[in-house]
Amino acid sequence: MYEIVEKRVLNENVKLMKINAPLIAKKAMPGQFIILRIDDKGERIPLTVADYDREAGLITIIFQEVGLTTIRLGKLEKGDFLLDFVGPLGTPSHLEGYKHACVIGGGLGTAIAYPQAKALHELGCQVDMINGFRNKDLIILEEECKSVADNLYITTDDGSNGTKGFVTDILKEQIQHKTYDLVIAIGPLIMMKFVSKLTKEHNIKTIVSMNPVMVDGTGMCGGCRVTVDGKTKFACVDGPDFDGHLVDFDEAMMRQKMYKKEENHKCNLEKY
Ligand SMILES: Cc1cc2nc3c(=O)[nH]c(=O)nc-3n(C[C@H](O)[C@H](O)[C@H](O)COP(=O)(O)OP(=O)(O)OC[C@H]3O[C@@H](n4cnc5c(N)ncnc54)[C@H](O)[C@@H]3O)c2cc1C
Ligand code: FES
Repeated sequence: MYEIVEKRVLNENVKLMKINAPLIAKKAMPGQFIILRIDDKGERIPLTVADYDREAGLITIIFQEVGLTTIRLGKLEKGDFLLDFVGPLGTPSHLEGYKHACVIGGGLGTAIAYPQAKALHELGCQVDMINGFRNKDLIILEEECKSVADNLYITTDDGSNGTKGFVTDILKEQIQHKTYDLVIAIGPLIMMKFVSKLTKEHNIKTIVSMNPVMVDGTGMCGGCRVTVDGKTKFACVDGPDFDGHLVDFDEAMMRQKMYKKEENHKCNLEKY
């Protein structure tokens, strides 16, 4: 059993929890994830390791309440326990050797982008961050991102905070007078697709983090397959980071919608 030792509400739908999991905290690296199960009736869901504290033995997860399991998880409090918490899973991000990176987070993707920005900063890389949200009420981790980024740019779709527009608008501007040797984009598939399209035109290496439906997280079920450079890859073991210029985003978007009916149905059946 894994104890929730801290819980914070970051915005209406996004919560942060610190979980006591010393063995995972000892080994976790940026880019990796865990799979948890709340109780013996629960489904397994993957969540990114948003941060880790090796000394205290804690793993931080940040999650958006989008359906049955994440809503149930959000109702748990400090002192409650999770039945299963497995990890670290996935291949760690390769972040060594870069001089100037631009890390882009779209919505909740900011929580997944933050540990990558932090790791780059700790490796001595100059880091710009561009975080995009639908509106000001959805902004998360602003202080944390400021502490690891040399420049932090916020965009909102409605202009209620930062620059009105999309993350690609800022990226387009910055590319004119800065030389990035790496762009990391994490967020909705459509955002990662358009960031990758832009950086391909400018020949800038781009990493995206794919989040297909996962079941076992160990390369056995094939549920998480994505097509990269025309080849089938399993995001849980070959990723979740991939070269954005080689990912088939259109196929990934189609696959993401596959279980919508079942997910909605299940959510309606449950009483919270
Ligand atoms: C490697 C990886 C890292 C992730 N990291 C985070 C994170 O740090 N924070 C966060 O909020 N979310 C993260 N996600 C997405 C998260 O797993 C889903 O939001 C969660 O599983 C939704 O479950 P649900 O029952 O609440 O919602 P549901 O109603 O069941 O599903 C809502 C949507 O979530 C996705 N989803 C559902 N089940 C799964 C599953 N087993 N595996 C993957 N996606 C699923 C689907 O796109 C679905 O349309 C990550 C996904 C992956 C693959
Ligand atoms: S989640 Fe089953 S193969 Fe990746």
